[in-house]
Amino acid sequence: MLRFSTAGESHGEALIALVSGLPAGVPVDLEFLSRELWRRQQGYGRGGRMRIERDAAHILSGVRHGKTIGSPIAMQIANRDWKNWEEILPVETGDPEKHKAVTSPRPGHADLAGALKYDFPDARYILERASARESTARVAAGSLAKMLLRALGVEVLSHVVRVGQAELQRPYQWDELVALAAKDTVLLNCIDEEAEQRMKGEVDKILRTGDTVGGVFEVVVHGLPPGIGTHANWDERLDGLLAQAVMSLQAVKGVEIGRGVTAAKSVGSEVHDAITYAAEQEETKFTRFERERNNAGGIEGGISNGEDVTVRGYLKPISTLRRPLASVSFATREETKASYERSDVCVVPAAGVAAEAMVALAVARLVLEKFGGDSLRELKRNFDGYREQIRKF
Ligand SMILES: Cc1cc2nc3c(=O)[nH]c(=O)nc-3n(C[C@H](O)[C@H](O)[C@H](O)COP(=O)(O)O)c2cc1C
Repeated sequence: MLRFSTAGESHGEALIALVSGLPAGVPVDLEFLSRELWRRQQGYGRGGRMRIERDAAHILSGVRHGKTIGSPIAMQIANRDWKNWEEILPVETGDPEKHKAVTSPRPGHADLAGALKYDFPDARYILERASARESTARVAAGSLAKMLLRALGVEVLSHVVRVGQAELQRPYQWDELVALAAKDTVLLNCIDEEAEQRMKGEVDKILRTGDTVGGVFEVVVHGLPPGIGTHANWDERLDGLLAQAVMSLQAVKGVEIGRGVTAAKSVGSEVHDAITYAAEQEETKFTRFERERNNAGGIEGGISNGEDVTVRGYLKPISTLRRPLASVSFATREETKASYERSDVCVVPAAGVAAEAMVALAVARLVLEKFGGDSLRELKRNFDGYREQIRKF
């Protein structure tokens, strides 16, 4: 089974990603891994922290001579900011005078609920782990899942469809997402320049007012065959697993598969995607059964149907405010302003990249469960056999 876990805190020495269950023989592209980490750091509206960090993953195990060897892969990503925090957050007892306590919990953060739960007189240890710095380790893990999927012809990318009130209003092609991901400068990761400028306008407005803004990203899985996930058991449905994977990201408060949100306001004939049959069809397609539109987002009954899988994540506005909301001091119990920590004001593009990683890990897990194989060669053989079978259906 493909499994991963992460460790590390925002201002600790390093982040760790541990991935197990990948077959042997998957080519590991270190340049791609670095680029994925770089993509997560981009976007208009990020804070000062992203100017400090230059994320790079150091692989400690599980990869030799450029390929996976079937054993667990441990990766470490150093926090450059650690040098400024070594005395504030030492592993040893250290000097309590140097501790930077957070005693006015920030609304919208785990600060208060976490301090109550773990019995801390300040929220520092809570926010250190609740921070989305952790998503860096998810991106490192997800990039390995992407390498596995890529070997089977499956790609995962994202783009931004909304920032505040500014929305992408036109349809798009997969190739536009490929071009977007290849860009060397990232503004708001929107495929449409005019919409992207409107999105930038939303961030500029927010920068002027000292507030924050949320938005919506969309992750697209391209080249996935029909038959991934199952209707047979609730916890093996592709839609259910994707929802959990994306919802588990910091600040994501809603997940939509295909046009799920609009579908709830529409009638059936406008929503469901009619099925057609193509007598002649390119060899690259999995099946001759086709759809002219994809409102279902490539999933029906918890099973991929061969169309692009589309998953949207709805992000609340960032919780740390330059003009903080009211809070209560842990020390005095009196009303005060919430603490302020250096912060981003808009993270929709970065959240999209982190969501790509989560989607890739969820899809890779189901792909491995369906096709099995301890080596990439064995997995591919099973994958190709199935491909031939559904092509003849
Ligand atoms: C890529 C990314 C970066 C984030 N950066 C910040 C930040 O700088 N400041 C902040 O207050 N919240 C930030 N967040 C959101 C918080 O981590 C999140 O809202 C908080 O931990 C509470 O968790 P919840 O929103 O999931 O309930 C970020 C989220 C993501 C996905």
